[in-house]
Amino acid sequence: MRPLRARIDLGALRANLRAVRRAVPKARLLAVVKANAYGHGLAAVGRALAGVDGLAVACLEEALVLREAGVRAPILLLEGFFDEDEVAPAERHRLSCVVHDPHQIEILERRSSFPALDVWVKVDTGMNRLGFPPEAVPVVLERLAARGAFARHRPVLMTHFAQADRPDGEATRDQIRRFEALASPPGALRSAANSAALLACPEAHYDWVRPGLLLFGVSPFPDRDGTSLGFRPVMSLITETIALRRVAPGDRVGYGGVWRAERPGWIAIAAVGYGDGYPWRVPDGNPVRVGPRLCPLAGRVSMDMIAIDLGTDPVPVGTPVELWGSGLPVEDLARRVGTVPYELLCGIASRVRYEIVGEEPSDVEGLPDADAANETLPCPEAL
Ligand SMILES: Cc1ncc(COP(=O)(O)O)c(C=O)c1O
Repeated sequence: MRPLRARIDLGALRANLRAVRRAVPKARLLAVVKANAYGHGLAAVGRALAGVDGLAVACLEEALVLREAGVRAPILLLEGFFDEDEVAPAERHRLSCVVHDPHQIEILERRSSFPALDVWVKVDTGMNRLGFPPEAVPVVLERLAARGAFARHRPVLMTHFAQADRPDGEATRDQIRRFEALASPPGALRSAANSAALLACPEAHYDWVRPGLLLFGVSPFPDRDGTSLGFRPVMSLITETIALRRVAPGDRVGYGGVWRAERPGWIAIAAVGYGDGYPWRVPDGNPVRVGPRLCPLAGRVSMDMIAIDLGTDPVPVGTPVELWGSGLPVEDLARRVGTVPYELLCGIASRVRYEIVGEEPSDVEGLPDADAANETLPCPEAL
């Protein structure tokens, strides 16, 4: 079997969940697990997030993966339904929907009765991506209320920050000001904070926080890594050496011959490449961990392989190689490649095997039950 695997440490995931809980003791926690749980494997992650108040995904298909995995917790569709055909399955699977655009209200108004769906109204406070402008919100709420949307559920107003990871925080303060100036109906709940705002803006915790990246132990701030913030990386991308070869001074290695040996030495070939989500853009010289030591890449990343400069110390075929993980922060690699850790994690290819560690047999039993929660995301009454 090809030795490459994404090792997913569910013990670390649960520890991160507890750390988030400690940071936001009063707000409800909606774990964002879209894009295959940021590449970590949606079913396993969803089942392991026992104790979370709800889960959020991008679309119906992702929600159905969670339901099929036995997850009965409330699930929010962050982009709501894309067309009319999705309303009935969303209702059947007891999903909650973000409403962010007039066409979604029109779809709901065309139905003979309002579906048993909890709706979250998205407000655009400055990101200019999804959501109603603040001045439109009263009419949106009125139209939804007229159809009975809030007969069983309290309205939830949500917004999303564009720059919560920035140290100056000016743009986020502006968005908070616009969000707080909204004339929201009595009893309405609010939600704004992603991972960065959860840590940097306690004033924006409101009723629900929505962390994603942080739960996976990765920092949302460009100049920090998750460990320095007290979180544990959940994913390690690990492979093994599959060949060893000697090089003589002047020998070139790999496509383009960009790496050239200056002295006699050893090159290890390891089974991982851009076909697995380890980007072609990773530069020559980038460190990987071979057994206990850090060694530089020798030349370009191929589709299925990398070459590693071992210097004068060879290692046996079958030696473990870590590309990122607890000993090698994915945040550092993202900086070197000129991307964000989100992209590296989400970019794990479908052929990569998952090795799940730290699983607890009773995970699913521990999840809150959507039925028990009145078929919707539970309201934090005590807040
Ligand atoms: C609406 C919304 N809320 C919350 C999140 C979670 O963000 P993060 O992973 O930075 O915590 C996302 C992710 O993109 C999002 O789109």
